[in-house]
Amino acid sequence: MSDKLLNVEQLKTYYDTRFGEKIFAVDGVSFDLEEGKVLGIAGESGCGKSTLALSLIGLFAKPLCYDSGAIVIKGRDVTQLDKETRRVEILGKKIAYIPQSAMNALNPTAKIKNFIFDIMKEHFPDMTKEEVFKLAKERFKELNLDERVLHSYPNELSGGMKQRTVIAISTIMNPDILVADEPTSALDVSTQKVVMKMLMSLMEKKIVKSMIFITHELPLLFHIADNIMVMYAGECVEYGTSEDVVFKPLHPYAVELMTSIVVPEVGQKGHKLSSIPGAPPNLKYKMTGCRFAPRCSLATEACTEADVEETVVGHRRYRCVMDRKVKSDV
Ligand SMILES: Nc1ncnc2c1ncn2[C@@H]1O[C@H](COP(=O)(O)OP(=O)(O)O)[C@@H](O)[C@H]1O
Ligand SMILES: [Mg+2]
Repeated sequence: MSDKLLNVEQLKTYYDTRFGEKIFAVDGVSFDLEEGKVLGIAGESGCGKSTLALSLIGLFAKPLCYDSGAIVIKGRDVTQLDKETRRVEILGKKIAYIPQSAMNALNPTAKIKNFIFDIMKEHFPDMTKEEVFKLAKERFKELNLDERVLHSYPNELSGGMKQRTVIAISTIMNPDILVADEPTSALDVSTQKVVMKMLMSLMEKKIVKSMIFITHELPLLFHIADNIMVMYAGECVEYGTSEDVVFKPLHPYAVELMTSIVVPEVGQKGHKLSSIPGAPPNLKYKMTGCRFAPRCSLATEACTEADVEETVVGHRRYRCVMDRKVKSDV
């Protein structure tokens, strides 16, 4: 199917610890991403969201290792490519990644324009400084960013401006897919809105063709995502349209994620109503059955007897043994 930009099939990746243990932080995850669509990924801290993002861009370094599964970008399984091919042909062009806390990773001793030049010369060694600056200037203008930012050092910029700068830099090569890992988490509510707007304008202006937006705040995704995947302990526990997952969550974990956090309105201070008791499991220990069962108020013996298969109903998937009624209009 030609409109599929990305197809992830049964992806498993793990951290190889110093003690020889394998921690599967991404444990059999599958999803597709089509052109023009935004996929939201939600889950508490420690559920494997960032590991999935790192795996998608093939950043297998130090403890993170690829185990099995496919990451097909425009028909090409990038797990089969060597590191250099991935760096030169894929990274930044086919798929770009804005890491969590990326705005703090800007080089404090370089003006933004020189930072951009350093990145571009890696990919396009023949481009002159002038050509790079011209390109950066045009892109900043297109994204309503003040040109003066290019002549600034990172410490002269506000948090929101730093984040918008990072987004502009990450997408300068017009990647097909942008993976943004918690791009608004460290920002206040009004700045969050500006950043969200900028991300949406990248899609509208077709600077990026599709996006994966990662957050621990599931309700936030309703405004930006077409589809949502909820992750828990390295697995996808629920997948569906944003409307279904936000308004009719099926997996008890997704229900808890929806009800435990209040999305603040403009001008109001956000606050947590309640958080889900307990914490995600330590992935070092193998579990049988549903990984959420120890925290689930609806859990029965059936939940931990055997591993839970995914139930697929049309476009929707969930991993829970409870007999949930999924209406046929889903
Ligand atoms: N360098 C590492 N070595 C070992 N385990 C790690 C490492 N980084 C992350 N993990 C484990 O992987 C799991 C998923 O982490 P992460 O992908 O960062 O989750 P999230 O982004 O959802 O907060 C966690 O249980 C964490 O303990
Ligand atoms: Mg993370």
